[in-house]
Amino acid sequence: MRTATARAHPNIALVKYWGKADEELILPVAGSMSMTLDAFATTTTVTLDPEADEDSFVLNGSPATGTALARTTRFLDHVRELAGSRERAHVDSMNEAPTAAGLASSASGFAALALAASRAFGLALDERALSRLARRGSGSACRSVVDRYAVWHAGTDDETSYAEQIDAPDLRLVIVTVDGAQKAVSSREGMRRTAATSPFYDAWITSTARTLEEMVRACAAGDPTRIGEITESHALRMHAVIASSEPPVRYLAPASVAVFDTAAALRAQGVFAHTTADAGPNVCVLTTPADAERVAEAVSAHGSVRIVGPGPGAHLVDETVDAGETDGVAR
Ligand code: PMV
Repeated sequence: MRTATARAHPNIALVKYWGKADEELILPVAGSMSMTLDAFATTTTVTLDPEADEDSFVLNGSPATGTALARTTRFLDHVRELAGSRERAHVDSMNEAPTAAGLASSASGFAALALAASRAFGLALDERALSRLARRGSGSACRSVVDRYAVWHAGTDDETSYAEQIDAPDLRLVIVTVDGAQKAVSSREGMRRTAATSPFYDAWITSTARTLEEMVRACAAGDPTRIGEITESHALRMHAVIASSEPPVRYLAPASVAVFDTAAALRAQGVFAHTTADAGPNVCVLTTPADAERVAEAVSAHGSVRIVGPGPGAHLVDETVDAGETDGVAR
């Protein structure tokens, strides 16, 4: 019997991914950059089942059905294709992120699944190949494969679109789970709508490519202030292009906007605080280890807070392979 258990964490983009150049391969229209978190792990075990004729998926102790199961099976089909296998698998996944935190678990989920499934099916993928595989489950998952800080190179095909680690100063994110959240349009649907209807979409694509280059330079220079400034302006640009879709999509709630204002007020007092938000009302404030408590205290008026820092990429926790079986070749 082959079984493997892997763990991965969510990531928060400081330069955002919004828009696909290829929906099937999940190639983005521009590159992005993120921090992999040291909290809210997903731990996933994949066990091959020679007797089964269907895959099964248990998420947080309950059998998954519908879209969640279909997405997992589709992903496993891709792993089977790489491994040249027809065996079905049982997937058991536990998410530490409280649902209310609104942290997209798809990134940690597909990064952990990519590693556990590839090992269970006998593949030994290097980090780049693993990142490419995770990307097929959910675009942002390719960044969760990588330790601490990652750049996702947009690329032009399956081989060239992957995430890679970069060095950056040690920063913290204060995650604010705000009150008064409304139901969000999924990132998949939101991206499609922006691409199809926003008059600003072309400018978003070209400016994001430039912003990423600037962010990479700021990281290499070890310039936290510039990293913070780029983070906030790029997040607001993403929300602006999204809001310019038809029918419009607005992810930020009044309490989310209030966090941006509180962070700006802190900055005026010399505190390091730059705000970002993904496709939902929750907000993250980028800060330094020294200022994290002060920021958390100030923004706690708008929701519940948690301080997180850079964490590990996807890693193997456990693996059992029957004697006599050998590993696949790295691709
Ligand atoms: O990978 P997806 O489909 O969950 O999209 C992620 C989109 C954002 O979180 C809004 C931005 C990002 O780069 O993570």
